[in-house]
Amino acid sequence: MSESASLIASLDELRQQALAACAEAKDLRMLESLRTSFLGKKGRLTSILKGVGRLSAEERPLVGKHVNELKTVLAQAFSEAESRLQVVAEAARIAAERLDVSLPGRKLASGAQHPLQKGLNEISDIFSRMGFTIAEGPEIEDEFHNFDALNIPPEHPARAMHDTFFLRSEDEQTSLLRTHTSPVQIRAMMKHLECNGESPLAVVAPGRVYRCDHDVTHSPMFHQVEVFKVGEDVSMAHLKGVLQYFLSTYFNRDLPIRLRPSYFPFTEPSAEVDMGCVLCDGKGCRVCKGSGWLEVLGSGMIHPNVLKAVGMDPARWSGFAFGLGVERLVMLKYGIPDLRLFFENDVRFLRRIGG
Ligand code: PHE
Repeated sequence: MSESASLIASLDELRQQALAACAEAKDLRMLESLRTSFLGKKGRLTSILKGVGRLSAEERPLVGKHVNELKTVLAQAFSEAESRLQVVAEAARIAAERLDVSLPGRKLASGAQHPLQKGLNEISDIFSRMGFTIAEGPEIEDEFHNFDALNIPPEHPARAMHDTFFLRSEDEQTSLLRTHTSPVQIRAMMKHLECNGESPLAVVAPGRVYRCDHDVTHSPMFHQVEVFKVGEDVSMAHLKGVLQYFLSTYFNRDLPIRLRPSYFPFTEPSAEVDMGCVLCDGKGCRVCKGSGWLEVLGSGMIHPNVLKAVGMDPARWSGFAFGLGVERLVMLKYGIPDLRLFFENDVRFLRRIGG
C-alpha cells in the first residue's frame, strides 16, 4: 500500500471510530475527553498527521483534502452530540431540583425560655412597671461590696453564715462569688451618686448568687432579686405596700402578708416576710407545715451604716430593701415540687413551665 493510501485508511478508521464514540457519549464530560483524545494536540489525528511529512508533493493535496473533510465532519458530529447532551444534562438537573410544593412543611422545634429566666423577667417586669430601674452587678465580687459596705465587718459572725466561695486571686484583694444580690445596692447607689448626686433612686437587681451549703433543697448557685428604694421620707409603710403589691401581682390574687421581726446586718429594723400559703389558701398544708404562711423573703430599712458607706447622709436619706429567692417563688407559682428540676434540663419540664 502506498504511503498516502495507508494514511487515508487510518483517517477513515479514525472517522468511523470518532463518529461511533460521539454517538455513544453519555454526558458532556465524556464527550469532552473524546474530543481531546481524537482531535486534541496530542490526540490521534495529530499523530496520524505526522505521516504527512513523509508524502511526496503530489500525494499531499489528496491527503490534505481528506483531512479537511474529516475535520469538518467530526466538528459537526461533536457539536451535534454536544447539543444533544446539553439537553440531557438540563433534564437531569431539573429532575434533581424537583420540588413538590404540595408537601406539608416541616415543623421547626421552637425553643423556650428557661423557667427561671421567665421568673426573673416576670419579677423584674413588675418592679420596672412600678418605676424601679433594672441594675446588674458582677457575680465575682470583693469583700467590700459583698460584706464591708453592707455593715458586715471582717469579724462579724454573719460572714460565717454566708457559706462563701472564695476565689484565689493574684493581687492582695480577696475575690469571692457573691453570696447575695445586696452588693448591687452598694454598686447602684455609688454609681447613682456619681452620676446624679444625692437624690432618690429605686432599683431592682436580678441575678445569680452562690453559697457552698447545698443539699436537696439548696443549690450552690441560685437566683435572687434585690429591690430597694432610697428617698427623703421612705418608710416601712412603703416597704409593706410594695411587697403587698408585688406578691399579689406575681401570684395574680389577693394575698395577705405579714412582717416578722428579724435580723440582717444591713437593715434596721429588719423583717422576715411571710405571705398566705398559695397552695392551701392559708388553711394549712404540708408545704406551709400547717401554718397557712410561707416565708418568702428578707427585708428591712437600709442601715444608716450602709448609706454612710456609699456616701449618702443617713440624717437626710432613708430607704427600704429586700431580697427574694427566685427559685422558691417560681416553684410556688408553678407548683414545681423539686428544686433539682430547674437544673436537670429535662426538656419535658422546660416545655411545660417555660415559653
Ligand atoms: N441579702 C439577704 C439574703 O441574701 C436578703 C435581704 C436583702 C434582706 C435586702 C434584707 C434586705 O438573705
